[in-house]
Amino acid sequence: MIELRDVRKAFGRQQVLDGLDLTVEAGSSYAVMGPSGSGKSVLLKHVIGLLKPDSGRVLVAGHSVPELHREELRDLRRDMGYLFQHGALINWLSVFDNIALPLRETTAMGEEEVRGRVEKVLGQVQLSGTDDKYPSEISGGMQKRVGLARALVTEPSVILYDEPEAGLDPGMSQAISELMRQIQTELEMTSLVVTHSDRCARIVADRLGIFEKGRFLVEGTPAEVLDSDHPRVREFLGPKRS
Ligand SMILES: Nc1ncnc2c1ncn2[C@@H]1O[C@H](COP(=O)(O)OP(=O)(O)O)[C@@H](O)[C@H]1O
Ligand SMILES: [Mg+2]
Repeated sequence: MIELRDVRKAFGRQQVLDGLDLTVEAGSSYAVMGPSGSGKSVLLKHVIGLLKPDSGRVLVAGHSVPELHREELRDLRRDMGYLFQHGALINWLSVFDNIALPLRETTAMGEEEVRGRVEKVLGQVQLSGTDDKYPSEISGGMQKRVGLARALVTEPSVILYDEPEAGLDPGMSQAISELMRQIQTELEMTSLVVTHSDRCARIVADRLGIFEKGRFLVEGTPAEVLDSDHPRVREFLGPKRS
């Protein structure tokens, strides 16, 4: 479970998180939508402990993240996957080695077990056989799926996605969203997804929150929120789709 309580964070005079509350139940998926530059990535960085709040509580699986010591934080992060906003594949490593990286860096797994895990996750993202390719040799959609595979390879119980559908065409965005949902339910992961796509939110999430001015403006099921008549929500999302 992920819990944030009355979290505040400012950079200089800019109050980015302003009394933010969030609960993501264990094994469920929560989507965050909100304007660019509003603090969604900052929110994710608090969950993995890259940023500390000025005040308030950040709990992951019962651990108070800002209070963890370096080693404890490293242990907790082993159980968390993070898909970066810009994929962040390493260009001089093959697809296989990119995906194997978190296993080699954070576990004592032997090469045979590493190979087994990487092949399994490559199959899950439907990229079997691309092991030896380099990031520059595959399409943007495939790179995204490699990033997804790398986030999943440690079979984390918590996964964070920062705009997983950004830069993908609608068909690929839908395919990635369906894949995220399938794997999240299969592995019963607790997942937090920042997205700009209402379609993605409808597919991946049990709950959706609209983030604005440092906290959540409305929350509910994706259908409740996306079809809400709340004036600020409509201003942000535009007219309802039929
Ligand atoms: N480490 C940092 N130092 C100073 N300002 C930051 C830092 N990280 C983010 N910000 C600022 O916080 C605001 C929110 O950023 P961000 O969370 O990246 O927005 P988004 O909702 O688009 O993900 C932006 O104005 C950004 O410039
Ligand atoms: Mg961002």
